[in-house]
Amino acid sequence: MRYRCRFTLSLPIGLACALCACGVHPARTVIPAPTVTPNSSRYPSIDPDLGEHLYPDEKPIAEKLSVVIEESVRKQYAAGSARRDAHPKAHGCVKAEFHVVDTLPATLTKGMFLPGKTYQAWIRFSNGSADPTHADIKRDARGMAIKVLGVPGRKLLEDEVDATTQDFIMINHPVFFATDPARYLSFMDDANSDHFYRKLLIPFDLGVRGTVIALKTRSSRISNPLQARYWSMVPYQLGSGEGRQAVKYSARGCSARTDPLPKNPGHDYLRDALRSTLQSGDACMEFLVQPRTSDRMDVEDSRMEWKEAEAPFYKLATIRVPPQTFDTPEQNTFCENLSFTPWHALPEHKPLGVTNRLRKVIYDHISRVRHEMNGAARQEP
Ligand code: HEM
Repeated sequence: MRYRCRFTLSLPIGLACALCACGVHPARTVIPAPTVTPNSSRYPSIDPDLGEHLYPDEKPIAEKLSVVIEESVRKQYAAGSARRDAHPKAHGCVKAEFHVVDTLPATLTKGMFLPGKTYQAWIRFSNGSADPTHADIKRDARGMAIKVLGVPGRKLLEDEVDATTQDFIMINHPVFFATDPARYLSFMDDANSDHFYRKLLIPFDLGVRGTVIALKTRSSRISNPLQARYWSMVPYQLGSGEGRQAVKYSARGCSARTDPLPKNPGHDYLRDALRSTLQSGDACMEFLVQPRTSDRMDVEDSRMEWKEAEAPFYKLATIRVPPQTFDTPEQNTFCENLSFTPWHALPEHKPLGVTNRLRKVIYDHISRVRHEMNGAARQEP
């Protein structure tokens, strides 16, 4: 997910307009053909029994979004120094152990969640802002992307079926600000436009509800990435066949303790916090699952929170981050060249809902673009 700094400028006027109940407008931009050869992936199929349904023109919109984002990456970065379009600023990639709890009910013992099993993992912590020079003390969304290693079984991405990785991508807010693909495309067009007046349209693209979620999502300040709470925002399948269900994920520090914000925060104080925590000891996080408990909990509407009171979270795994030195040039380059996508997944953990379907096309395309621009190899660890 990407937050543009220029988005803020248009909000007071735009939000006022949105509150006047103005409606959706169709996508306006005529978009050129992509410049990176699309891969051979199929657009995801839907599972109506789990509440999925298609929006009109999802696939062409996903392809257009890929091109809009590609243009933005090519405009923002020179060849050799391309970054992620979203979450370009990493606080670091750390090595972790993902230990599935010793006892799990049969309904949760699915896919890679085998009781007692320990996997190695990489975790990339990030800021959401599209500006990689954003000071950490500025309000922003914060990301946590987990890449679990050594997960056997055929994976969902057609070009990477033999990969042994399973990714979980989360942000420190429970819901995503957009759900309708055509409106999301309008938003991206307007956010990327060089014309100021187009930015005034952003709240119309998102609507009141989406605008409020976007504002809340990008409003956080945290003192340490290891102490924040993160959510998958959007749902995933758990299991296969008859017993499959829709779930969301979350992660949080094992202890509820959070450090106060530093008095004189450095530009990159979140990297500093990660570094000093892991110099002096290890860190512990919990990985949680939230099974859907009612059909009223929408699988397609990414803006709908599944309230914990109605659908509790259960602990699935303990994440241990051992003491380590992660902030080296080699590890930082390795981290930048990783590709996270919800579709690095076993079929038992298939991403659900329109936002995830769009992400299958977009993450793959944008990862290819930035690796091609940097002349970097694109491969799963
Ligand atoms: C249609 C909606 C979305 C679009 C178009 C989008 C787009 C992107 C793109 C282009 C990247 C960079 C990919 C790369 O260069 O490898 C990215 C990264 C990321 N996105 Fe999204 N995103 C969307 C929804 C979400 C949602 C719902 C979440 C919530 C968890 C999310 C969380 C993240 C995070 C944490 C990263 C950084 C991952 C890393 O550390 O590499 N995004 N997104």
